[in-house]
Amino acid sequence: MGTASPSAVTPQRIMQMAWGFALPLAIQAAVNNYIFDTLTAGNKTLDEIADQAHVAKRGLPFLLNLLVEAGLLAVEGDRYALTPESETFLVSSSPAFHGAFFAHIQDLISHWLGLPEAIRTGQPRVRVESQTDGAAFFEEFVEAIFPTSYPAARTLAAALSLEQLQQPYRVLDVGAGSGVWSIAAAQASPQVQVTALDWPNVLDVTRRVATRMAVVDQYEFLPGNLRDVALPSGLDLVVIGHILHSEGEQASRRLLKRCCDALKPGGRIAIQEFLLNDDGRGPMQPLMFGLNMLVHTTEGSVWSFAEIAGWLRDAGFAEVEALPAPGPSPLILGRKP
Ligand SMILES: C[S@@+](CC[C@H](N)C(=O)[O-])C[C@H]1O[C@@H](n2cnc3c(N)ncnc32)[C@H](O)[C@@H]1O
Repeated sequence: MGTASPSAVTPQRIMQMAWGFALPLAIQAAVNNYIFDTLTAGNKTLDEIADQAHVAKRGLPFLLNLLVEAGLLAVEGDRYALTPESETFLVSSSPAFHGAFFAHIQDLISHWLGLPEAIRTGQPRVRVESQTDGAAFFEEFVEAIFPTSYPAARTLAAALSLEQLQQPYRVLDVGAGSGVWSIAAAQASPQVQVTALDWPNVLDVTRRVATRMAVVDQYEFLPGNLRDVALPSGLDLVVIGHILHSEGEQASRRLLKRCCDALKPGGRIAIQEFLLNDDGRGPMQPLMFGLNMLVHTTEGSVWSFAEIAGWLRDAGFAEVEALPAPGPSPLILGRKP
């Protein structure tokens, strides 16, 4: 029995949590129906939004006012307006558009519906580290997460002073996805030469994004399984962005060792992950991501900086440090002695 008296405890907080699914799906409905986009040309009434977005008027007041309550729209009189946050992140023409992520929420939710069973058995719903489950999943998904990592990718390029390069600098982007990490590096200097490693169909996305960002001439493409494909040698930098969590500890340790072998002496490694506190008890986002890995992977997980730093040292890296970067966690850097 707890110590709080019955009158001090209400189910209100728990019931609010029960409705936690509604806001992301409401954001998705608004993005999907171009509600934020219609407001870029100026504030509008509900009728004007309904006309311009071609949506019915029945649900729209609830959707608009929910978004106002959530701070994603403002209202003045009977006119709705974007807020700085929605204007930056939920308007599809914005370079920092994060709305595409919401299109994939239904996929994630459908897998999370298997969470009770996954908790009982320790077995996932799907295994996105495999080509069978992962290649199509990531082909759909990776471009949507480009804007979430691009600011951190630019921070990495600046921290490594890539803009000052005087000679060719060879980068391996492991599980390149959209290519976000190596694209920021390639943009920093024409001396950067990238090898992008991923499944063949996902490399089509990498190629498309690198073309759009005008750096595709600096790219080579290495299709294959990151667990066993032969890595190029003599590298200056290996970037492993959001990969270790789906690999699990043993496969991650093997990958880090192979990457260390592929680097030239003095070469660097950069890792991005959702990092737990040292005691493993927080923050909330990495904990949720740990459950995400349970339902999506065979051995995937999340770890603390200290744990991954230890694997890097075991793999042969020195000068392991955290680089503060925009996003939920710092980057982890290491150097081959
Ligand atoms: C979460 S995404 C990260 C993409 C990118 N690095 C980023 O940070 O945005 C994981 C990427 O790794 C790729 N991947 C996962 N397992 C792989 C494997 N065994 N072989 C090759 N690529 C794999 C996926 O196709 C996907 O592009």
